[in-house]
Amino acid sequence: MIKCVYRSLPDMSKARNRVDGPLLFEGGKKVPAEISSYAKGRRFFIRTYGCQANIRDEEIMAGYLESAGFSRTENESEADLAIINTCAVRENAEDKVYGQIGVFKANADRNPSFILAVCGCMMQEEGVAEKLTKTYPYLSLVFGTHNVSDILSLLNEVIVSRKRLVDVKSFPGEIVEGMPSVRLDGYKAFVNISYGCDKFCTYCIVPYTRGRERSRRPEAILKECEDLAERGFKQVTLLGQNVNSYGLDLKDGTTFASLLEQVAGLDIPHIRFLTSYPSQFTDAMIDVMARHPNIDKWLHLPVQSGSDSCLKRMGRRYTREGYLDLVRRIRAKIPSIALTTDLIVGFPNETADEFEDTLSLCHEVSYSSAFMFIYSPRRGTPAAAIKDGVSAEEKHARFLRLSQVVEETTSKHSLSMVGETYSVLVDGPSKKDPSVLSGYAPNGKLVNFKGPLYLKGAEVPVKIKESHTYSLIGEMIGDPIVHKAEDVAYLLRRDPLAKEYLRLDEAVRRDPEIKKLGEDFVSAKKAMALSMGRREEYEAAKKTYEGLLRKIKNHPLLANRAALQGAVGDILLQVRDSLK
Ligand code: SAH
Ligand code: SF4
Ligand code: F3S
Repeated sequence: MIKCVYRSLPDMSKARNRVDGPLLFEGGKKVPAEISSYAKGRRFFIRTYGCQANIRDEEIMAGYLESAGFSRTENESEADLAIINTCAVRENAEDKVYGQIGVFKANADRNPSFILAVCGCMMQEEGVAEKLTKTYPYLSLVFGTHNVSDILSLLNEVIVSRKRLVDVKSFPGEIVEGMPSVRLDGYKAFVNISYGCDKFCTYCIVPYTRGRERSRRPEAILKECEDLAERGFKQVTLLGQNVNSYGLDLKDGTTFASLLEQVAGLDIPHIRFLTSYPSQFTDAMIDVMARHPNIDKWLHLPVQSGSDSCLKRMGRRYTREGYLDLVRRIRAKIPSIALTTDLIVGFPNETADEFEDTLSLCHEVSYSSAFMFIYSPRRGTPAAAIKDGVSAEEKHARFLRLSQVVEETTSKHSLSMVGETYSVLVDGPSKKDPSVLSGYAPNGKLVNFKGPLYLKGAEVPVKIKESHTYSLIGEMIGDPIVHKAEDVAYLLRRDPLAKEYLRLDEAVRRDPEIKKLGEDFVSAKKAMALSMGRREEYEAAKKTYEGLLRKIKNHPLLANRAALQGAVGDILLQVRDSLK
């Protein structure tokens, strides 16, 4: 077996450390020479499990790999480099990883230069990296959530040294700006606003896998969002394990409300954020949400349990009444808000009464949808050390009862949408029926409807006809060609070249000198026509005419506008092709 170098291994006690002031790094595109020649003609494959934080890490890794010259494949068997990006939040998330590693044995057998790397939250748990490298001799590289931006140098080491490498840091955290990334979606984007989590809910592994909570500078976030707006992205989701505590560590008065207000001021039609922590959701945040029509009226507000005693054992820093009061305050200011939540069933020693409290809270809030999880002990977290008296059967029975209640309120919410018209951002063909389009309404509900494929990425009005608990069936209103044309106009208004063209066009219209030139030109043409046959007069008129023509041709504003006409025309030709 090839030697494995264990450069650093995770230490969960170190991961608990909370120190002020994260280290700031620039994560530019330095590409080691060896990796460039290795990457030529080689393809990478990434499989990501877990939450949006991991999806964003995948986009960043893809950015680094493509900058080195790798190309992407969606076909596992074609991969020369495979990366498995893991999640540790529940046991079933971890179970999937072992099967996925097994899949790549065939690649390793076939291709001696094949590289398999495993990264993500699961690698931040003690013992996992050693276990994996011992079990799977073809696993070449293990790294963690704190060195995603080192991916190229780590790969380079593996290629040059021909050794296997484990490098999982347990830094409480740093912030890397300026990382390359390849977005997985052309219309919807995730933007990290903070990393890590300081809440330490007693069941949760995330503060150990992602380090201390640290906020990105608002300027960096706004720059990323402005760039997305310019590129025509229609939906931006701000990400943090707890977005409501955003900015507090910057200690300069920045808050999530102030950031959200600034992001909402940008030209982005749909803004969302994940995840909210109830007791840190302030009235100022509710006001910003209510004030800005481009902040979607959908809020994911994890409650976990409806029982005060259980919430206390979970280390959640709010009460049932505090949560319900927040829901009332939000609904008073934003009556149309759709609320979703996360719920944990069977937390250690959850009593029947505590569970009933969760059921009654779900009835009371009437969520438009909810994620439900059976508690899964995570080694190293305080709750995992509690001796649990509730049987697995009981937990499953409770899970089923809770699912019924959630299904009831979900159906109720879906039914209330029937007859209404929603603006749906089209994702593409539906997974179940490719002849049907699907997308999400601004309240987070999945809508299916008939329409042409070229509407992918456009926003179209859809009237809801039928509700099916978790999805809705609707009918598109209006002419699809008109929707496509509106979408093209939307993109053109944002495209830097088209924007410059429109700016120049506007400047041309307003310029008094050009106006005068135009008028003189028309008069000169007329004078030329009228003097036809009177040679001297005609020659003089022609001279004036030609002089004006030269002036018009050489006018910088007019010349620049003409130069951009070609680029704008090219965009329109692409649109014509997409309609075919
Ligand atoms: N920061 C977010 C998301 C955390 S993980 C938040 O605070 O809501 C997403 C969800 O997974 C959590 O909301 C919780 O419901 C669930 N979860 C976390 N740890 C779990 C565990 N050990 N067992 C079962 N569910 C868990
Ligand atoms: Fe986990 Fe709690 Fe942090 Fe959410 S707030 S990531 S549940 S510790
Ligand atoms: Fe999983 Fe890590 Fe996200 S544990 S839920 S991928 S933060």
